[in-house]
Amino acid sequence: MQDLAGKTAFVTGGASGIGLALGRAFARCGMNVMLADIETDALQAAVKSLREISPDISGTVCDAADAESVERAAQAAFAAFGRVHVVCNNAGVAAGGGIDHISLENWRWVIDVNLMGVVHGIKSFLPHIRAHGEGGHIVNTASMAGMDGGLGFSPYTASKFAVVGMSEGLAVQLKPHGIGVSVLCPSFVRTRIGESGRNRPQRYGESRALDPANPAAAMVAEIARQIEAGLDPATVAERVLEAIRRDELYIFTHRGMRAQAEPRFDAILAAMEAVSPP
Ligand SMILES: NC(=O)c1ccc[n+]([C@@H]2O[C@H](COP(=O)([O-])OP(=O)(O)OC[C@H]3O[C@@H](n4cnc5c(N)ncnc54)[C@H](O)[C@@H]3O)[C@@H](O)[C@H]2O)c1
Repeated sequence: MQDLAGKTAFVTGGASGIGLALGRAFARCGMNVMLADIETDALQAAVKSLREISPDISGTVCDAADAESVERAAQAAFAAFGRVHVVCNNAGVAAGGGIDHISLENWRWVIDVNLMGVVHGIKSFLPHIRAHGEGGHIVNTASMAGMDGGLGFSPYTASKFAVVGMSEGLAVQLKPHGIGVSVLCPSFVRTRIGESGRNRPQRYGESRALDPANPAAAMVAEIARQIEAGLDPATVAERVLEAIRRDELYIFTHRGMRAQAEPRFDAILAAMEAVSPP
């Protein structure tokens, strides 16, 4: 989509980090913005800050893990702005525990938000975008964790690989309808993802700190350090705007990612070549 001014963007996880930066970038280029987030106070503050840029900003409380909640948020966006064109399925959480200690509740929570949240967004908005016929763009937030297994056996890695694969398929299927698809794959970004437990609904049990003796604790501490030193979310949002305008499928935001991903792709290709003829 080239011409974004006057169009409408819907962003889940819009109250913080990358989602808030996306909302700000959309507002600055003249779009109407609906921020959707599970964290009520942060959402109100985010809407207030974006209204300093433009009056056409609204917010709706939404649990991306819950299909009905996403559908209500979509209806709120249609009621506020009529047509929606850009949908950012961005809400995400992280939780682990280390290879032997990941609880099933952690698996369910992360998969429900990071993967099913994307499914719910597509289910609620795709029929609408197809029907209005003005074109559109879907941005699904994955991660470099969806490009290589460096973060290890974890729900986060599983969810992000799934978002990459599903976005690739969706892009092919939606091209004939004039709807673009991008999958956002950042490495570390300076956000509050490390404090995801603040938004963990009770149905997934309590968020527990890792036992320092757990071998995963050192990895989590290192990740927290890298997030702290990570990219400014505003830089990520600028890349996303550019990718929407150029209709790019893969959005990478950090230099040097080829070196990170290459060993996996090389190993896969080598394993394929090693298949002996029947
Ligand atoms: N920060 C990084 O280093 C990094 C790197 C790669 C990918 N990502 C991805 O970026 C996305 C945004 O995360 P962030 O880094 O900005 O973190 P963040 O914690 O700053 O923002 C995430 C937002 O999602 C909201 N949220 C959480 N659960 C929700 C739910 N069930 N329904 C609706 N909203 C919910 C939170 O309230 C928060 O406002 C996530 O998908 C994350 O996996 C982050």
